[in-house]
Amino acid sequence: MSPLLSPVRIGRTLAANRLVMAPMTRSRADADGAPGALTVTYYAQRASAGLIITEGVFPSAMGKGYVNTPGMATPAQLAAWKKVTEAVHAQGGRIFMQLMHCGRVSHPSLLGGATPVAPSAIKPDGQAWTPVGQVDFVTPRELSLAEIAGVVDEYRQATHRALDAGFDGVELHGASGYLPEQFLSSGSNQRQDAYGGTAENRARFMLEVLDAMAAEAGADRVGIKLSPEMNYNSITDAAPQETYTCLVDQLRGKGLAYLHVALFGAKFDYHALLRPRFDGAYLVGSGLTQASAEKLLAEGKADAAVFGSAFLANPDLPERFRVGAALNAPDHKTFFSPPTAQGYIDYPALATA
Ligand SMILES: Cc1cc2nc3c(=O)[nH]c(=O)nc-3n(C[C@H](O)[C@H](O)[C@H](O)COP(=O)(O)O)c2cc1C
Repeated sequence: MSPLLSPVRIGRTLAANRLVMAPMTRSRADADGAPGALTVTYYAQRASAGLIITEGVFPSAMGKGYVNTPGMATPAQLAAWKKVTEAVHAQGGRIFMQLMHCGRVSHPSLLGGATPVAPSAIKPDGQAWTPVGQVDFVTPRELSLAEIAGVVDEYRQATHRALDAGFDGVELHGASGYLPEQFLSSGSNQRQDAYGGTAENRARFMLEVLDAMAAEAGADRVGIKLSPEMNYNSITDAAPQETYTCLVDQLRGKGLAYLHVALFGAKFDYHALLRPRFDGAYLVGSGLTQASAEKLLAEGKADAAVFGSAFLANPDLPERFRVGAALNAPDHKTFFSPPTAQGYIDYPALATA
């Protein structure tokens, strides 16, 4: 049997297999940030994953960064997500919610006219996806110390709602140039206070957010995703190896459920650097195939393997791996469509004769 198909403990969660569905934004929520019936079906179809991580979800209205993305900031959003967790659990699945605060990677048109917030007032290069199409990012507003404490508490409140909605745990999106990585990285953080300067100071925001999430959920139901040197959303860091060493050394001992590291083109082997420093389950993602994932597990380099686009296009990915079936190809044109079924819930499962 494929080593991917054996059960694994991920913090408090017992996953039936080692295939984790990666967090993937699909932009099918309504204008108020609530997922609908299509989203319930989409996740339920993929419940045979050992663990599903939802798409990035904004913990507060100021965390929204893309049109039609969902939130966990209101009772209505909570009620809508409850239908998702019930459907996944009814199929025997497990599901964590990824909390994603976009910080400066947003636009006033997504924030009721407000200016996006960030550690420092440094404009990212690139464009935001807004209700009126793509427009240039704006210069964000620097968060005050009191506001930082408020944002940390928003993550805590969103975690509380996620648990009320039935999620098995929560993941902090610490990658892709969103607010936590904006604090972590020297290029986007020029603060002179306790949240800027040294790597230890720049890591402080992420660590405080994780502690706030763990205070609600228990650390064994909290995970984090990191992507060193992905350089997405114009994130840069002067000394990333030192930065991530400092961060992960402080993650150790917290009792977190997992660390998910997805590498995109980094020349340095961050897995070799970070895995020995972390004491929870280690999840590896990005560009995996069945063969490469099985090799990682066999060599003891990962506890579970994270699949993105393959899960998007193959609702029954574990079964396909079990029988060695061909995979559906993902259709990039429908990754971020308006709320339609096409390219969302119409990828076929294997015929069940
Ligand atoms: C359509 C799409 C949306 C994504 N949205 C997110 C997201 O919301 N949060 C996140 O952490 N990563 C996101 N990612 C990245 C995936 O989680 C994953 O790291 C990436 O797809 C690499 O894995 P793969 O090669 O197996 O697809 C997204 C990827 C895709 C394809």
